[in-house]
Amino acid sequence: MRILVVDDEPEVCEALVGFLTDEGHEAHAVHTGEEGLRQATESVCDVVFLDVRLPGVDGLQVLRQLRQDVPGTDVVMISGQADVATAVKATKLGAYDFLEKPLQPERLALLLRHLDERRRMQREVDALRDVAELEGRLVGSSPAMQRLREQIARAAPSDGRVLIFGENGTGKELVARQIHLQSERRNGPFVKLNCAAVPVTLVESELFGHVKGAFTGAVHSKKGLLEQADGGTLLLDEIGDMALETQAKLLRVLQEDEFLPVGGVKPRRFDARILAATNKDLEAEMEAGRFRRDLYYRLNVIPLRVPALRERKEDIPELVRHFRVLFEKRTGRRAAPFSPEALEVMAEYHWPGNVRELRNFVERLLIMVAEDEIGVEHVALGLRSADSRILENPGEKLPLRERVREFERRLLAEEFRRANGNIAEMARRLGVDRANLSRRLREFGIKGNAV
Ligand SMILES: Nc1ncnc2c1ncn2[C@@H]1O[C@H](COP(=O)(O)OP(=O)(O)OP(=O)(O)O)[C@@H](O)[C@H]1O
Ligand SMILES: [Mg+2]
Repeated sequence: MRILVVDDEPEVCEALVGFLTDEGHEAHAVHTGEEGLRQATESVCDVVFLDVRLPGVDGLQVLRQLRQDVPGTDVVMISGQADVATAVKATKLGAYDFLEKPLQPERLALLLRHLDERRRMQREVDALRDVAELEGRLVGSSPAMQRLREQIARAAPSDGRVLIFGENGTGKELVARQIHLQSERRNGPFVKLNCAAVPVTLVESELFGHVKGAFTGAVHSKKGLLEQADGGTLLLDEIGDMALETQAKLLRVLQEDEFLPVGGVKPRRFDARILAATNKDLEAEMEAGRFRRDLYYRLNVIPLRVPALRERKEDIPELVRHFRVLFEKRTGRRAAPFSPEALEVMAEYHWPGNVRELRNFVERLLIMVAEDEIGVEHVALGLRSADSRILENPGEKLPLRERVREFERRLLAEEFRRANGNIAEMARRLGVDRANLSRRLREFGIKGNAV
């Protein structure tokens, strides 16, 4: 740790600095409160050992100032006289500990170990909080995302039920969490039930809980998610996959604001805001008789549609940057930037798996590519399986000319990689003129650090 000692007695300073240095810390001393304040605020230190009695501005005043200006620095008071009142005051002002002179090496060593441990844990907590905050962020400045954000801001405080539509991986769950965070219930729990993942026979007991002895194996009674979400928000994810039988029960619960645990006889009231999400076309599901229309109206008080990534490709660079930062924070490794050309190629892909696919793609490249920058050649390779989809005509119908151009671009990027960037060799392989090929590569922005 970087440690500053503030004491007017040179012998104390010398002994303490010597001890701290021997223990492997970086320590030096100053002799006045003024100088201590100046150094502690100008260069960051982890710990300040601070004498209570100092000429000029006294120790407690310095302490007060330090807590205010550099709250991340721990302050340990040292004093010639054990004075309980001063010790109490120092603790109230935020001192980490209070030591009496003469300082005892064992006591000091223990204190340093605790401080070190506490600071390490604090750093970990900060990092986790950072990641959690970032993970919850809804990134994107495209008009479509701005509109979505406005809708969330309007829907969130109302406590109304919200039905969130959107393809796979568009960020429906993130939207649900944002609604929760921007509502009055933000300090309550956010609970999620994945209606598709839980077997039909268990959905009810998951949702409503069960009483002891309700069925074989129900040794204890169990709280359902509806109750666990009390005071907070319950997200019914993949609601389109809920069995009709369960739909009927859920409908009754939503109509009556009461539920019955499995095997129970006395209805219970609940206080959870219900959000639902689906990637299915519920209109079609209702037509086919797989989704109850009355339940649909109960849930769909406020409809929100999360746009597909291909409808907001201008968000891609911002999303890539976001996932790179997350990668760095989570792994502690450096994440290489994507070249502008690489981002352009990515914008031409149609991303059927939406943001989730983009995120996986970015993380895969960050792990696999050893170079300082992620270029067209890496991206083209990664999207190769997607090539065939583009060429075989995905949902999106590109005009023939663009599809041919797209094919050419990918072919050239692939050949470029295979030839290690040797254009003469590429020209030979492809049987084309070298100068023309160079021009074409420039046009497509295909270049690399290979020779
Ligand atoms: N706008 C966004 N900004 C940042 N991250 C996003 C955004 N949209 C989605 N993500 C990320 O993409 C991944 C998928 O998001 P999420 O799980 O919310 O999608 P979903 O619509 O619920 O998908 P599914 O239909 O498969 O359940 C998550 O890692 C999420 O953090
Ligand atoms: Mg989801």
